Amino acid sequence: MPYLDLQRALGGLLAGESDLIANCANFSALVYTSLPELNWAGCYFLRGEELVLGPFQGMPACVRIAMGRGVCGTAAARRASVLVPDVHAFTDHIVCDPVSRSELVVPMLKDGALVGIFDMDSPLPDRFSAADQSGMEAAVALLMGACHL
Ligand code: SME
Repeated sequence: MPYLDLQRALGGLLAGESDLIANCANFSALVYTSLPELNWAGCYFLRGEELVLGPFQGMPACVRIAMGRGVCGTAAARRASVLVPDVHAFTDHIVCDPVSRSELVVPMLKDGALVGIFDMDSPLPDRFSAADQSGMEAAVALLMGACHL
């Protein structure tokens, strides 16, 4: 049950801290070091009409993504998670690290408003399941519940 462990660890990390950047930084580090087979995990924040890179773990990544573009911009525009089993089959996928083969993006919402997205990449095709999606949606909800904007 990796997501129950993740939730427990997250409860400890977020306790008594409401800073968005600090909590997103620790959240990225926790996810990256807890879940197997990831090569990138991190946040993009909504800034006007585009997403701008936030705290992350992994290789340096593209800084700005327009709303509706790539997997991240698609999840942001839909305000819904996007699970891509094979990034080569997602026409508008934005390549930050050519090693990435599958991707899961979860929107970060606060009181119904879009704050940004949380992105995870894997070097394995088909790395993410429906259980990963629901586990990450619950984890991101905990994260956003702890943060004051
Ligand atoms: N692949 C993403 C871009 C962000 S990186 O993977 C870190 C996309 O298509 O939106």
